[in-house]
Amino acid sequence: MRKVRSISPTPLHLSKETEELRRALRGRGEVLEPHEAEEPILASVVRGAMFGWLAELNAREELSAVGIKPRASALLSGPPGCGKTTLAHHLAARLGVPMVNVGAEHIIDSAHGGSEKNVAHLFNAIEDFGKPCILFLDEIDSIGGKRKDTSGDLGGAVTAGNSTLTVLLRKVESFNGILVAATNRADTLDQALWRRFGMQIEVALPDDDARWAILKRYGEPFLFDEDLLDCLTELTDGAAPSLLRQLMEGVKRLLVLGERIRQPATSAAAAFGAIAAQTKPHPDYESPLLWSQTGKALEEITRAAKGQWPPARKEAPETGNKDAA
Ligand SMILES: Nc1ncnc2c1ncn2[C@@H]1O[C@H](COP(=O)(O)OP(=O)(O)OP(=O)(O)O)[C@@H](O)[C@H]1O
Ligand SMILES: [Mg+2]
Repeated sequence: MRKVRSISPTPLHLSKETEELRRALRGRGEVLEPHEAEEPILASVVRGAMFGWLAELNAREELSAVGIKPRASALLSGPPGCGKTTLAHHLAARLGVPMVNVGAEHIIDSAHGGSEKNVAHLFNAIEDFGKPCILFLDEIDSIGGKRKDTSGDLGGAVTAGNSTLTVLLRKVESFNGILVAATNRADTLDQALWRRFGMQIEVALPDDDARWAILKRYGEPFLFDEDLLDCLTELTDGAAPSLLRQLMEGVKRLLVLGERIRQPATSAAAAFGAIAAQTKPHPDYESPLLWSQTGKALEEITRAAKGQWPPARKEAPETGNKDAA
């Protein structure tokens, strides 16, 4: 049995201040509550970095007694669907604060000066809110790309992009809260912006242990045999967690509805084959074996399943208080 530990032993808290924050933002971001967060399954190096950061953020006074402050910002980079947003939200949950999730659509405005204004208003709204929260800037490359030469045909648009970046740099520099940014395209980020983050963490495609744990998690409450999970772990090398989730949720759907929708999950190979045909890794990434050599992969699945199909289902936890009544 492979084990992947949680990044923090502390329980999730509930925050009740999101309504005020939502109003202050006036559409320039979406407020996610701490209790809505899921815990990502991460490689040990990322988990270690997050655990350390969380400890710092929870030890402000001890650190200030020796003249240092906790780091206040992190840049998460890595392929799509590997858990950058999930991780930032989970961090907010561990701190018991809401997260303001800001995507390019909340900032980019083609009107003259529109994007700069949105950046400035966003940071001002969070500062005015005055209570702890995490500001999460997703797709930061859309406003934080390298500065460009303004002399060409696209001069006007380029100038606008550069001035949005200038406002962003100024706001990030003076921001007092906790900032997390994410990008799939770290190589395109402006260097001055890059260096303003206290940490740069790569959230990469999951390694074997992480894939095993992700397949198991999203397969529950079905208890897939460990040999089958080992086999799936090998066949999905190179898959993002979001694709692993799609795969396992698809198979669960067939286990529950297969007969009704005339796609009975009669064997492990039939179930995984059907879902592999309905899902695809992103074309920019090398396809894992389950998708690139599906026939061979399904033979391996048949061998690993050893005829034990369908998988057993975990008993639902008992509800209600036995001592009551
Ligand atoms: N490391 C992980 N462990 C468990 N589940 C994960 C993990 N990463 C992603 N997922 C699942 O995949 C979905 C997409 O993840 P998420 O949005 O966090 O990825 P992302 O890196 O932010 O992607 P993008 O670059 O496209 O914004 C989430 O719903 C989450 O449940
Ligand atoms: Mg994301």
